[in-house]
Amino acid sequence: MQLSFVAPSDVTAKSGTKEGGARVVGAVAGLGANAALLPAAARLDKASGGALSRALKFSRFAGKTGQLVEVLAPAGLAVSRILLIGLGKAESLDEKGLEILGAQIAGRLYGAGEVQAALEIDVPKGAKVKKAELAAHLAFGAKLKSYAFDKYRTRNLDEHEKKLKAIRIVTPDPAAARKAHAGLAALADGVFFTRDLVNEPPNILYPEEFARRAKAQLSKLGVKVEILGEAEMKKQGFGALLGVGQGSARESQLVVMQWNGGKKGTKPFALVGKGVCFDSGGLSIKVGTGMQGMKGDMAGAACVAGTMLTLATRKARVNVVGVIGLVENMPDGGAFRPDDVLTSLSGQTIEVLNTDAEGRLVLADALTYTQRRFHPKAVIDLATLTGAIVQTLGFEHAGVFSNNDQLVQRIQAAGRFTGERVWQLPLDPFYDKMIRSKIADMKNIGGANSGAITAAQFLQRFIEKDMAWAHLDIAGVAWQDGEQKPTIPSWGTGWGVRLLNRLMREHYEA
Ligand code: BES
Ligand code: MN
Ligand code: ZN
Repeated sequence: MQLSFVAPSDVTAKSGTKEGGARVVGAVAGLGANAALLPAAARLDKASGGALSRALKFSRFAGKTGQLVEVLAPAGLAVSRILLIGLGKAESLDEKGLEILGAQIAGRLYGAGEVQAALEIDVPKGAKVKKAELAAHLAFGAKLKSYAFDKYRTRNLDEHEKKLKAIRIVTPDPAAARKAHAGLAALADGVFFTRDLVNEPPNILYPEEFARRAKAQLSKLGVKVEILGEAEMKKQGFGALLGVGQGSARESQLVVMQWNGGKKGTKPFALVGKGVCFDSGGLSIKVGTGMQGMKGDMAGAACVAGTMLTLATRKARVNVVGVIGLVENMPDGGAFRPDDVLTSLSGQTIEVLNTDAEGRLVLADALTYTQRRFHPKAVIDLATLTGAIVQTLGFEHAGVFSNNDQLVQRIQAAGRFTGERVWQLPLDPFYDKMIRSKIADMKNIGGANSGAITAAQFLQRFIEKDMAWAHLDIAGVAWQDGEQKPTIPSWGTGWGVRLLNRLMREHYEA
């Protein structure tokens, strides 16, 4: 879908574009049950001989957020439809809300089979957002909604076709809007890259293929990408990560991505991702329904790769290193077993009691490697780590665990701003005791309860003294069925790219 920003003079009163198409205008919640049409909506109403206000008389439209009224083929105008959207109260309008509105508008236009549209939504009096930001964030929301993953369909293509080809966003200063939108376009690219990686089936996207795609997409943007194979990792002692990959016919990989857009010599910020390209559970095999969707068990790694893509595309003035551990967890004669003891890269030994608790093993070595090599100023890891976090927080929040209050507060704030929200859960020596092993330094599962917390405790054992660290358990938010949130598609959500991008912009960029 094409997005462009145009001046009001490019839009005639009679039609939005040369070819007609839809006109989208806005209203805010006014007094009582009445909506207040914004100027562009009022002009269009007049040009159509009052078609909009007549329609409003027969609707419940009150200008509330996301409410819609449509007038099809209004007399006197060369447009296919007028779409009036409610913006709610002017004071409450923010960037995140605008993105949701943009997505709702695009969703309606897709549903209607429109081919093109012109959006003319004024900044209402009393709103805190600027004109350029309003245009840019509406566009960004529409863009996020335009995502589709149809590459494996060969039939009924027209049924799935997204007909909407172009949206023109009318704004008084198109150049300013384009400037405000540039970073968001880079952000959408990162989100789409992440979604694509998560959506790819596991017979196509196995560790080496993931590594290849990361390298292909990122190195052309100036990211330094290194790939470590099994021989190299064996030499260095990645016993935990390699243990997980042992039963797979596919080779495990570690991908190291460095974006050095910041001052030379300043410590990088580190992002570490769980990349289990398929999680069968291994010998502790999952039941059939529990295994469905386990292609998405690399969403943490995909988020790290997508974030690197965004940062490099917009040339962020920050040093960031992304490290992802890519494996496939499969049962096999050569697979690691429950009862095995693995020696991690850190030297600590791990008694494996359940091969389905594999993500923490992959992360353990990736975390050790990252800290030893880069001495980062802080580390955030992202992982679809536990079913327990899904039971606890559902699809609304990711779980966050941290040893650093400032870092966690920054993550929470970035989450609120972008709508990718997180909720903090505790770390505590009491939970740490639950992963004591009878024969090794630790075991890889806790008890029956507090599974997301014991998983985090496990990871903390691989965090060096004084290292600021946060762990995001994204098992619930990384993939879902999209009906719930307008900016999110079915399956891979791309969760985390927006949050991390915001975090970098607010706190770590020069
Ligand atoms: N990849 C799963 C976690 C998961 C579950 C992600 C559901 C998305 C949806 C992880 O590797 C896993 O299997 N965790 C186990 C741990 C248990 C064996 C201690 C779990 O949560 O059941
Ligand atoms: Mn598992
Ligand atoms: Zn897993």
